[in-house]
Amino acid sequence: MEKYRIAGGNRLHGEVEISGAKNAAVAIIPAALMVDGICRIENLPQISDTVTLLHILESLGAGVKMINPSTVEIDSRHATWKGADYDRMRKIRASYYLVGAMLSRFGVARTTMPGGCNFGVRPIDQHVKGMNALGATVDVTDYIDAKAIHGRLRGAEIYLDKVSVGATMNIILAATLAEGRTIIENAAREPHIVDLANFLNSMGADVRGAGTDTVKINGVDRLHGGTYAIIPDQIEAGTYMAATAACGGEVLITNVIPKHLDCISAKLREMGVTVEEYPESVLVRSSGRLRRANVKTLPYPGFPTDMQPQMGVALAVADGTSVITEGVWDNRYKYVNQLRKMGAQFQVDGRVAVVEGVERLHGATVEACDLRAGAALVIAGLCADGVTTVEDIEYIERGYQDLVGKLQALGADIRIVDEPEHSERLNANAG
Ligand code: UD1
Repeated sequence: MEKYRIAGGNRLHGEVEISGAKNAAVAIIPAALMVDGICRIENLPQISDTVTLLHILESLGAGVKMINPSTVEIDSRHATWKGADYDRMRKIRASYYLVGAMLSRFGVARTTMPGGCNFGVRPIDQHVKGMNALGATVDVTDYIDAKAIHGRLRGAEIYLDKVSVGATMNIILAATLAEGRTIIENAAREPHIVDLANFLNSMGADVRGAGTDTVKINGVDRLHGGTYAIIPDQIEAGTYMAATAACGGEVLITNVIPKHLDCISAKLREMGVTVEEYPESVLVRSSGRLRRANVKTLPYPGFPTDMQPQMGVALAVADGTSVITEGVWDNRYKYVNQLRKMGAQFQVDGRVAVVEGVERLHGATVEACDLRAGAALVIAGLCADGVTTVEDIEYIERGYQDLVGKLQALGADIRIVDEPEHSERLNANAG
């Protein structure tokens, strides 16, 4: 079993380049299924979620050609909705985007129930409500089976009961090739929603208002091929910002859109970190000694829930008592039990965590319980005294391109080790 072994205590120095946004890529790859032509996607992050999705597209009959590690050409002209690799689908959360994309393109869709990170109940009722409004029946069992009643979806007005990134993007996908106009009210506004709309528009779609809470989609008959570059990953950038804050040092984070990082930059400044913005980069400088702060996660442009665990680690080593309020998910503090093994002091009550900052964390063996929790534990290991082993790293590799290589280049002492699973326990049992 591969694990990360981290010898903590090094400050981070140098430059790190951010990859394409995972949460945009996992919607744009399914969207490529709707394109009647060759679609070239650049700045594709090399992470296991995108690899899985490309395999799924191939299983549906699309041609997938890697031009270089971050550029792919997808030809979906001969794709069908049948024959999907359902085992692969089960592994990722974003498989639900295939419902919108397949319904749009084929008028019928079959996918598995989404997998991915488990941080509480992850309902899809708003997705289903959207598809129903567009004229599809949706049957949810172990699989999601959907069918356009009239063969092709029809535009509709949809008011989302909950601000949902996934439902907003899925409805945009479904409505793109529908007949007539769709209006989504109370839409989510995340940068990756704008990116999906820009991708679709560059291939001939008519999606307006993405990035606001009202998105209007005028259905078109077909999408044509084209080339599109995915935006940089806001959360990957934020993770390196939080790592630099917690470890101390000076890091130039390149290939970013500083505007997308505003709320993270503002919070880090409040904690005593210097963040300088340049057109496509941010420079983060930290003494490693941080001030307390309160963090409340909210849909964009609020503080991103996907940065809550990483920021939780920075607050764990900050001076004073901080309060974190999780405003999106019911159960996003699973990493806290792992952090406690490293000496962090958290009290969690429902969606609120009170963090008593400690001077230093100490190394321990911890498990990455989900993608961002895993990233947070890596940061904890980097700033802790002694050696930390992070297990279950496959979660982390779902969303971070070459995390180890990028951190090593910044001076971190982190490497991948390959050891039998839970060797200590096995040895103990053998005794
Ligand atoms: C996406 C991100 C995830 C991020 C989340 C919030 C991807 C692949 N994942 O997840 O990393 O944490 O946005 O920024 O992009 N909800 C419902 N009914 C629904 C859908 C959602 O009640 O049909 C609720 C959820 O339980 C949650 C909230 O709405 O409390 C937000 O969920 P949503 O924005 O949909 O998250 P995802 O798209 O699944």
